[in-house]
Parts: sequence; C-alpha cells; structure tokens
Amino acid sequence: MADTAMKATLEQKFAEVFGDLEGTKVYFAPGRVNLIGEHTDYNGGHVFPCALTIGTYAVARKRNDKTLRFYSMNFEHLGVIESSIEGLKPEKEADWTNYPKGVMWAFGEKGMKVEAGMDLLLFGNIPNGSGLSSSASVEVVTGFILRDLFGFDVTNQDLALIGQYSENNFNGVNCGIMDQFAIAMGKENNAIFLDTADLSYTYAPIKLEGAKIVISCSNKKRGLGDSKYNERRSECETALAELQTKLSIKSLGELTEEEFEANKDLIKDPVRIRRAKHAVYENQRTIKAVEALKAGDITLFGQLMNASHVSLRDDYEVTGIELDTLVEEAWKIDGVIGSRMTGAGFGGCTVSIVKDEAIDKFIDEVGKAYLAKIGYAADFYVVSIGDGPSVIA
Ligand code: GLA
Repeated sequence: MADTAMKATLEQKFAEVFGDLEGTKVYFAPGRVNLIGEHTDYNGGHVFPCALTIGTYAVARKRNDKTLRFYSMNFEHLGVIESSIEGLKPEKEADWTNYPKGVMWAFGEKGMKVEAGMDLLLFGNIPNGSGLSSSASVEVVTGFILRDLFGFDVTNQDLALIGQYSENNFNGVNCGIMDQFAIAMGKENNAIFLDTADLSYTYAPIKLEGAKIVISCSNKKRGLGDSKYNERRSECETALAELQTKLSIKSLGELTEEEFEANKDLIKDPVRIRRAKHAVYENQRTIKAVEALKAGDITLFGQLMNASHVSLRDDYEVTGIELDTLVEEAWKIDGVIGSRMTGAGFGGCTVSIVKDEAIDKFIDEVGKAYLAKIGYAADFYVVSIGDGPSVIA
C-alpha cells in the first residue's frame, strides 16, 4: 500500500478508536533483515543488516493529562490498553504495550522524563514473531515519536541505544544493538557494516544486478524472551572469561581464527568451544563478506552466507528443523546465490539472494518441500532495502 493510502487508513482507524484526529501525526519505522554476522553483536563483532520497506506505522498525539492509551491494529481483540506515564513498569497484562512503555521509561532513565500522556495507534506489516525485528521497530518508532512530540535532543543512534536499553532493562531480553541500530540508521539500498565493539559503521550499497533478497518465513513463532537467546549469550561470556585467563581481550570479536585455534583449549567445555568458535569465525566471515561485496564478488558473498548457516546450525545450534529445511531446500535450487537463517534463530526467517529468473521456482519448490516436511506452510517475501524512521507527511 502506498504511504498516502496507508496514512488515510490509519487516520480513519485512529479517529474511530480515539474520537478525533486533533493534534496527530503519522510515523514509520522499518523492520530489518541481517545479511550476515549473526550472534556477533553481543560479542564485540561485526554485523551487516539492512532496513526494510516494511515496518511499523504509528499515529500519535500528546495528551494534556498523564494517561497513555494504546491500540494496535495487529491485536484488535485486545482493544484499547490504558495506563499512565507515571510509575512505568513492565506488566504481563500490558502485553505488546510493554515495548512502547519501555522506551518511555528508558527516556526517563536517561534524564529525559516524558511529562505528558499520549494516544498511540500502531500497525505493523512485518509478520509477527518472524525475526524481522517487529519489537525493535516498535521501540524505534516510539523513540522517534517522543523526540518529535517532546523535542528531546537525541540522534538516531541514541534512539537505537535507548531502544536496546529498554529491551534489556524493561523487557528483560539481553539483545545486542544490531536490530535497533539497523532500523534507526537504515538507508535505502544500503546495508550497514557495523562494528559493535565501538559502533563505527559504513554504508555499503547493495547492487544485486539480476537478483533479489527473498525472505522465507518459517511461521514457527518465537519470542526472544522464551528462547535460548540469553543462554547463548552467557555461554559466550563464560568462554570469553576463560580465554581472558591468558589473553588480554575485551571480546571474542577481537580474535582471528588462528588466535582462537591456538587458545581454544583454555575453554574447559566442548560445547562452549563451539559457541565461541562460531562467534569468532562468524565475525571474520562478515568482514570477508563485505570485502567480497565491495569487490563485486557476489558468488563469494553467497558462499559465506551458506557457511554462516552451517556454523549457526552445527556450532551455535540455533536453527532447528524449520530453518534448516528452508535453507537446505534453497541450496538445491539453481540460481540461489546464498541462503541462511537470519536474526536470533529458533524459528523466524531465512534470507536468500536469488537470481530473478529463479525466484518463482524457489518459492514453489522450497514452499512445497517445507509443507511436506514440516506440515504447515512457509511464507515468502521479495523485499527491498529502505530508509530509517520518518514522519509521513
Ligand atoms: C536478535 C537480537 C540481536 C542479535 C540477533 C542475532 O535479533 O536482538 O541483537 O543478537 O538476535 O544476531
């Protein structure tokens, strides 16, 4: 749907739910897909994500009292969820509103108290729980709205950090910075090569002549909170501490493959060795992948994507039969340049680079094989790389 049509639909709904449109503005923040560099962002490594043209739309206005009223067109059965800008804390009954509330709380923690209530309507066209960062998209759009309505002096990079802070400390998921950063800093037709050790980054144009990015959604739902995400994170922290008994490093991302191999015996558990190995090798793969892309070697980029999946499957163990089926079926098809799981794993999506002429066949054959093996259907999206958050005028 074009932005003007979308805006009209959202405004109509807002007026229906909240009475009128007085003082409202319409906003958007994208979702993201990560091309390579998975589970490296909390290990001081590199990531290579991009913002999408799908994401979260919001209609918002400031109120004259302390009341917060939320409505999501994705969860209409929940109706209007009300609370107050005072005493913000996570509550189970608050459901999805814990994400925007967490961001309002985080602004306060950073010395920017939100003094007034708001009416906020959201609509997301990112499939829920797909691993395309619908929650980070909600966080960033909320921060963007707060900056716009209350005049807080924060950059887009600050919005990413505030979003991550709220997710870590309000919603209890120890995520890294990748998702919020990719969304807040997104740039059309570019991926972001981000070093999570110091947040330095460059944009890399994604020119896939004759090919497109295809996202395959497993429809296996996952929530980061109930996944093994936090467990993987602490396994890496323990492995790092063991390496630090001899090496003076701050993160696994500082190690080359050779340095890791020479020192891995410091890690006293075979499972933890595999976890740390993934973090080290995946970081190096990401650096190599971006070099390959810059050199115009899309074939090598694809091979590194494939190697990333194997490592996430065998060493990091965050794939599962659904994601493995999507990727392994994709690899069989002529015209697939690379395919891997993307995001946290344990469900969610895969990302593939597919030649234009192979896309129909890809969707047909991967779709059929998935249905036959898993028992329910996957969904496929040919996506474009979009910009960061914006006001829709
Ligand atoms: C989730 C987290 C990110 C990152 C990925 C795995 O998307 O939110 O911070 O750790 O998983 O790469």
